[in-house]
Amino acid sequence: ISEDPSLPKAQTIKLWKKDVPLGDAAKGVKGTRVRVFGHIHRLRVQKQATFLTLKDGYGFLQCVLAAGPLTQTYEALLFAQETSLFLYGELRSVPEGATAPDGRELHVDYYEVYGRAPGDAEAITNIVASGQQDPWESDMLDKRHLVLRGDKASAVMKLRSILYEAFIMSFKDRRMAAVSPPAFVQTQVEGGSTLFRVPYYNEDAYLTQSSQLYLETCLPSMGDVYCIEKSFRAEKSLTRRHLSEYTHIEAELDAIVFDDLLVHIEDIICSVVDTVLSDPAGKELMELLHPGFVKPQRPFKRMKYAEAIDWLNAQDPPVPNEFGNPHVFGDDIAEAAERKMVDTLNVPVLLTHFPVEVKAFYMKKDASDLRVTESVDVLMPNVGEIVGGSMRMDGYDELMAAFKSKGLNPEPYYWYLDQRKYGTSPHGGYGLGLERLLAWLANQHTVRTCCLYPRFMGRAKP
Ligand code: 4AD
Repeated sequence: ISEDPSLPKAQTIKLWKKDVPLGDAAKGVKGTRVRVFGHIHRLRVQKQATFLTLKDGYGFLQCVLAAGPLTQTYEALLFAQETSLFLYGELRSVPEGATAPDGRELHVDYYEVYGRAPGDAEAITNIVASGQQDPWESDMLDKRHLVLRGDKASAVMKLRSILYEAFIMSFKDRRMAAVSPPAFVQTQVEGGSTLFRVPYYNEDAYLTQSSQLYLETCLPSMGDVYCIEKSFRAEKSLTRRHLSEYTHIEAELDAIVFDDLLVHIEDIICSVVDTVLSDPAGKELMELLHPGFVKPQRPFKRMKYAEAIDWLNAQDPPVPNEFGNPHVFGDDIAEAAERKMVDTLNVPVLLTHFPVEVKAFYMKKDASDLRVTESVDVLMPNVGEIVGGSMRMDGYDELMAAFKSKGLNPEPYYWYLDQRKYGTSPHGGYGLGLERLLAWLANQHTVRTCCLYPRFMGRAKP
């Protein structure tokens, strides 16, 4: 086939462009002649015409190739799901009574196939079409690059992009500055058991677990700061919500008290959700991924750790701790118990005042009860913990004592300790796992479908 030189020159478009004048066959009105690149998403060969749905990453376009020279080429016989091609033709409104994406269809007059795809439709359809792939199955994980071509999998990634931007906008609105701390570090933040040690020239370094300590160093000169960086955790269990590499949204706020931190966290989560839903694309993706989603109500339910212990023991039957015994003050609230609680309450929970022993060295103690810290976890139904935060110890001596009691050598932390020597301040902050928030928002069973290429124990490909 060749392009008919007497036709108007085609205007190249992407499918986000919705304002292209459409033709109307019934009224004899000609539409715009366009050229569009994309992949075949669906293919239906009928007697009078071949119908294909083209996708270009921005949207879908119904395309009609009248049976005849256009459908009788060798290339047309090889059309398959994912074949990439340039299509040329006139854009028309869909006929009365019919429906198609954006109410339009392309009446193809010419095409150029760019890349063929295997005609083994079964295989690719199974992988991409439903988006209900089992994110635990290794075959699906090996084929993540193809899974990502599916409607659902790509919708989650598009929502992620909007969510990411929503954070940047929300932080900007609050006059917080973005910084970019290093990924190679020589200090730990959240305990030695999940550190990835890496050779670093002639010494050892770790991949960062959290940028918190670096954010703290910015406060005196930059005001409140945030970062959106990767954090790395050598988690040794395979769960719905643990990755070895995740996107960590962290913020640090200066000259605050604990309640300010709680209000800020609640505020930022609600602001981000509002921003996503006020974006037409975000709203559409939410309707696809999470129909019936209800925005969280402010204020969030607040619960102290000690009350949570009582709550767990008051259930019938009581929710046991990780060793199968009744919970006692000082126990870690394990993932299963935490989930049981938040799923039962079925609202976001700000869980506060964890005991000193179960939390990191840097957390400030509650002056009214020195057994506990000014700490908070945000728990979401179906996911569990999405945020961990606290006020920070701001006195030099108490911090030195904390290093000692946790068995940490303070020497590599000289720069962190200097913050307490050169004019300290009452400050606090938090970290939020982007994949966990997205799992909640997009109604995903696991964080694995909330990252492009999930990394967890035993998986570092593709
Ligand atoms: O509670 P975490 O360990 O807190 C910190 O790292 C603090 N230093 C943050 C800060 O105050 N700046 O982690 C914070 C959040 C968790 O609530 C969770 O959402 C996420 O990071 N997270 C993980 N997400 C996926 N996979 C993992 N292995 C994660 N570990 C933590």
